[in-house]
Amino acid sequence: MKRIAVVTSGGDASGMNAAIRAVARTAIDRGWEVLGVRRGYAGLISDNFLPLGPRSVSGIIQHGGTMLGTARCEEFKQDNAQIEAIRLLRARGVDALVIVGGDGSQTGALRLLEKGFPVVGVASTIDNDLAGAEITLGVDTALNVALEAIDRIKVTASSHQRAFLVEVMGRNCGYLALAAGVAGGAECVALPEIETEPESIAMELRSAYERGKSHAIAVVAEGAKYSATALTKYFDEHRERLGFELRAVRLGHVQRGGTPGAFDRILGTRMGAAAVEHLERNEFGLLMGLNRGEITGVPLKDIVGKHKPLDPRLMELAGVLAR
Ligand code: ADP
Ligand code: F6P
Repeated sequence: MKRIAVVTSGGDASGMNAAIRAVARTAIDRGWEVLGVRRGYAGLISDNFLPLGPRSVSGIIQHGGTMLGTARCEEFKQDNAQIEAIRLLRARGVDALVIVGGDGSQTGALRLLEKGFPVVGVASTIDNDLAGAEITLGVDTALNVALEAIDRIKVTASSHQRAFLVEVMGRNCGYLALAAGVAGGAECVALPEIETEPESIAMELRSAYERGKSHAIAVVAEGAKYSATALTKYFDEHRERLGFELRAVRLGHVQRGGTPGAFDRILGTRMGAAAVEHLERNEFGLLMGLNRGEITGVPLKDIVGKHKPLDPRLMELAGVLAR
């Protein structure tokens, strides 16, 4: 291995910078050259590289986002774009590519591998929907941002005896909503994985008041069947019958912009370093992910396109703990 490249792709996640830094410095330590790819797969197909030295990655570990930039790139889903990316990588003398991103990005990684280019993936997305990794990079920080918001909402909710809906990200996966609900002490959660009707959420919230609570909070996953907007409409229409006032807060991209916490800095560092170790052993086509405390390398072909189910025990606890 003489020269490698690193790219961050898809939704940014706090800790991506730690991964870039670890890839660069551990590779440089082995005497390799490192190139960064700007703006995800869009940069890969437009020859947008920059050399990374040990100093280029100074002062980034404490910043959210990614120093390389990222993108959603529809064009890269086409075979000819992937072939062009490989041509450009080879023209630059790049021997292997580290791809830091979520399920879409790792699908792209597998396509490059299938076309003969050596890749290693680093499991990174706030959605935690990537099979092959128990907790992906950025989840912990995003969750803490959501919790800070929920804690604050609870203060004003209690003062006014109001009900709140807090909508969190996660695309089609309910992990962030479930975990934020459990850790934030929400009265109920609405997840894409379980169909929950508006009336059932209303009853959960009303029963919280009946049990003597001064607040009633539902955490709603953005991918749930009924969005916070749809639920608000329903609650407004039934305001008199339900007998309580409701406000909705959509956290949106705020969750993605957090300062990476210790967990994500260390996770990004460990996965970045592990990616380089695998490349050194000529082991390609693997996804670096955290499993049972260890960084493991799972074949991309075994995880791409696979659904990652929610932990049923955590779902059960969410209900019990809201009593
Ligand atoms: P994430 O990686 O965070 O899940 P996306 O799903 O948006 O984010 O995927 C990021 C990028 O990965 C896409 O914009 C596209 O360039 C690439 N990608 C996604 N799906 C595929 C696919 N089926 N084949 C090739 N590339 C893909
Ligand atoms: O995949 C990460 C994520 O933040 C999802 O939770 C969300 O649905 C999506 O990205 C938002 O995408 P964008 O930043 O392109 O609006």
